[in-house]
Amino acid sequence: MRRDRQLRAAAAAVVCLLGLVSLACAGRVDGGSRQKLEVEKHLRRLNKAPVKTIKSPDGDIIDCVHISKQPAFDHPFLKDHKIQMRPNYHPEGLFDEKKEVAAEARERENPIKQLWHMNGKCPEDTVPIRRTKKDDILRASSMKRYGRKKHRTVPVPKSADPDLINESGHQHAIAYVQGDKFYGAKATINVWEPKIQQPNEFSLSQLWILGGSFGEDLNSIEAGWQVSPDLYGDNNTRLFTYWTSDAYQATGCYNLLCSGFIQINSEIAMGASISPVSAYRNSQYDIGILVWKDPNEGHWWMQFGNDYVLGYWPSFLFSYLGDSASMIEWGGEVVNSEPNGQHTSTQMGSGHFPEEGFGKASYFRNIQVVDGSNNLKAPKGLGTFTDKSSCYDVQTGSNGDWGHYFYYGGPGRNPNCP
Ligand SMILES: *[C@@H]1O[C@H](CO)[C@@H](O)[C@H](O)[C@H]1NC(C)=O
Ligand SMILES: *[C@@H]1O[C@H](CO)[C@@H](O)[C@H](O)[C@H]1NC(C)=O
Repeated sequence: MRRDRQLRAAAAAVVCLLGLVSLACAGRVDGGSRQKLEVEKHLRRLNKAPVKTIKSPDGDIIDCVHISKQPAFDHPFLKDHKIQMRPNYHPEGLFDEKKEVAAEARERENPIKQLWHMNGKCPEDTVPIRRTKKDDILRASSMKRYGRKKHRTVPVPKSADPDLINESGHQHAIAYVQGDKFYGAKATINVWEPKIQQPNEFSLSQLWILGGSFGEDLNSIEAGWQVSPDLYGDNNTRLFTYWTSDAYQATGCYNLLCSGFIQINSEIAMGASISPVSAYRNSQYDIGILVWKDPNEGHWWMQFGNDYVLGYWPSFLFSYLGDSASMIEWGGEVVNSEPNGQHTSTQMGSGHFPEEGFGKASYFRNIQVVDGSNNLKAPKGLGTFTDKSSCYDVQTGSNGDWGHYFYYGGPGRNPNCP
């Protein structure tokens, strides 16, 4: 009898270790205390001891963690890594003093910031990290999956694999380029706060840097803004990044929720709320995102706006992206969970269709790729893709001011999208 119970407990523990079943399974082994211990252990692993702590008005806690204590350095391959405090190479030229003065002037023009800045700053030599709370983990379907993606969700423009699109109800409206070697991408992304109908849905706007096939070996680096009640516990618009080197299976995560990305910036926190956001027929705000590959070290760097080099994904994390990207995508993605068999009313972008134009529809402007000579270039042969244009659509254009741009998004459920 006793042995039987032990066996059953052991089997359950293995299942839980594999992260196959929800937290409830850990609870069943020997009650709620076991689950509590597991959650606390997981939180201790994720949250590093802060030098200083800042409470954000949105309820977030931002921990200023010493740069050498950040989650990246849990990675066995990074034990002896020497942090690079500056990129060796920048596709727009390495910033000098002059550029920094110009940047300050631009900052005054474009005040977009993160909400937690209202209540303090992180000291030098620290990086701001959004603290993971117990509730964040309890919302996840499994502790091990927290901060990871539930499904493969990358849009496949040519519908090469329709299963992929139908599998999880993800819908996209994107622009893309392929058929070349790419070493980075840039865009200025209009920021909105789309309404999410169901807490397990999300709405995001991002760029994708993709390498490999759309099978099991897809390499992806993603960055933009997202509203995800599941991941963050609210409806705020947040800056996010994501990476994977195996099509969203075992490797990778959002933000700094696993070891990988090495942050060097003390002012911008991954996963923190962006403020202000755009309003219909009113003020418009946008954020600049640039991701590029260092031609010498091979690391993939990320910059937010004109001034914040956030850090880098070390080259060894990837296989295909260790060389170059084969496809770049820009655009929106939502989850349509089809509550009651009807299309969700979760919005993409501003929740309005591209035809409405500036001040009403959401946009990406000045979209560019980094080419084989490490220069920023207009994308050649830009394609578009949408799963269902009557729900969410995309329209490209180009002019002198905005370069290549597109409007995208929509309301989801409407008479033409039942
Ligand atoms: C995917 O969904 C579309 C429309 O919802 C449908 O026409 C198509 O047959 C589906 N594909 C598969 C493989 O189920
Ligand atoms: C998020 O928005 C939905 C409706 O769009 C609302 O039902 C829900 O209560 C909101 N969640 C939070 C945490 O504010």
